[in-house]
Amino acid sequence: MTKHTKKIVVLISGSGSNLQAIIDKLHNKTIDNVAIEITAVISNKKHAFGLERAKKASIQTIFVDAKKVNSREAFDQQLIKEINVLQTDLIVLAGFMRILTAAFVRRFSGKILNIHPSLLPKYTGLNTHQRVIDAKENEHGASVHFVTETLDSGPVVLQAKVPIYKEDTEQELAKRVLIQEHQIYPLAIQWFLFSRLKMQDDHAILDGNILSIYSHD
Ligand code: GAR
Repeated sequence: MTKHTKKIVVLISGSGSNLQAIIDKLHNKTIDNVAIEITAVISNKKHAFGLERAKKASIQTIFVDAKKVNSREAFDQQLIKEINVLQTDLIVLAGFMRILTAAFVRRFSGKILNIHPSLLPKYTGLNTHQRVIDAKENEHGASVHFVTETLDSGPVVLQAKVPIYKEDTEQELAKRVLIQEHQIYPLAIQWFLFSRLKMQDDHAILDGNILSIYSHD
């Protein structure tokens, strides 16, 4: 049987613990005749710790400097240029803290996954952990979703839930959620690379079944 190679690019801004989980579980692994490779890690932060993690795994690192361009559009055009060279099957946002332009999302439509620290569609945006504590929720979690033009609103692929305890601090809760992120993100990526998962008409489809119906309002 011919071996297929699937290439991923990971975009980060910070610590890169999700990147590490993806490196550990998928990078340079051949699973069911599919060879998986992270071809580059791109950061908008020069000193993001995730870049160190990438270097340690001998993965190419790219820093795209927002200060060198004068608009969001120009930054994303630069990103597109970098990614085009890499011939990527999938773009993985792993703690990438920039809002992507519609032009970027359209260019790679159906090929961008993100992980967000909340049970979407609840708590889009920032500071999700503190916001769920303040709202006295009793559960929280993380969601993997396809990226569409509306922030944190693309079809959800997979979620993991965690309990919230009365005495939880934001940090404790974030840590509990991250442990789950490290489980679900590599799994969803693997589904995509094995062509089991796709986005069609704003739905996430796994093995031919619609996973979620999410409408923007
Ligand atoms: C993760 O919790 C991820 O869900 C979140 O940033 C953290 C990155 O951690 N992403 C977002 O908030 C995107 N809106 P990491 O750098 O250790 O993977």
